Amino acid sequence: MNKTISISQIEQAAREAHELYSKNLNGKNADYIPYLAHIDSNLFGISVCLLDGRTIEVGDTRYPFGIESVSKVYTAILVLRQYGADKLLSMIGADATGLPFNSIFAILLENDHPSTPLVNAGAIAACSMVQPTGHSGKKWEAIVNNITQLSGSAPKLIDELYRSESDTNFNNRSIAWLLKNYNRIYDDPDLSLDLYTRQCSLGITAEQLSVCGATIANKGLNPKTDLQVFDPAFAPQVTSLIATVGFYEHTGDWLYTSGIPAKSGVGGGIMGVLPGVMGIAAFAPPIDNAGNSVKAQLAIKYIMNKLGLSVFSGDSVTVTD
Ligand code: DON
Repeated sequence: MNKTISISQIEQAAREAHELYSKNLNGKNADYIPYLAHIDSNLFGISVCLLDGRTIEVGDTRYPFGIESVSKVYTAILVLRQYGADKLLSMIGADATGLPFNSIFAILLENDHPSTPLVNAGAIAACSMVQPTGHSGKKWEAIVNNITQLSGSAPKLIDELYRSESDTNFNNRSIAWLLKNYNRIYDDPDLSLDLYTRQCSLGITAEQLSVCGATIANKGLNPKTDLQVFDPAFAPQVTSLIATVGFYEHTGDWLYTSGIPAKSGVGGGIMGVLPGVMGIAAFAPPIDNAGNSVKAQLAIKYIMNKLGLSVFSGDSVTVTD
């Protein structure tokens, strides 16, 4: 079926979602990373980026918050760009774990395999694979440049968050060294863990995440900058990784109720990709017990359902003025 939606319908749905959920008090800020515990819990922003580069923004869409696990999508794309789809599959994997994001058990269960670049083990392995680029010839520059290209503007490291994460990331240190034990990390474990921790500590806005979502939805062509960031052939693979494990052990429930592949982070951000239509992002710090923002989930679900959109509908969608 062909479906037409207008920009004003999207604007109205986003405004309604913001109004409906801004007073929702469920969830609480992540407290296992001290910096995140102190962020204003009332911040709430929703941004939609269309494939012509226009954005629809409601609320706190320009507030830079910790990108956290949403960064895993970006570095998975960088690994695809640098190594191709087959190598990502053989060196990391593309499977759901059905377990929490920081599970050590998942590594053991999956025959020593990190499973997917979208859980901690696979994300640390992905950081270990990054090839240095740019003037500095450093891996960090490659990671930041890739995020900048996908988001249309540069992220900025939140030093306090980086220190806070580095001081408390004992579980992730175990993961990095367990991967070493199984030859599933491809550079020094401590260095790879530091890269992962630093990328999680980058400040990003809902607007930037929506542009990245739109770039993926637009087969790698950033609609804001017109830069072809990655090979269009990778787009289905990127979206399939997100669809498979974007909400960890709650991914099935999420897809079933929202109809959109999306990736969450404990900083309160969620980035969704509706291929061929738009990128959508929402941000609100209080998270549920699986690490997913309560209000951002509600808002994206509301908008998708209100507009009658789903990646599984088979509809071809046209957005009009
Ligand atoms: O590895 C960690 O614990 C954090 N830096 C990121 C976790 C995260 O965002 C999980 N997602 N919802």
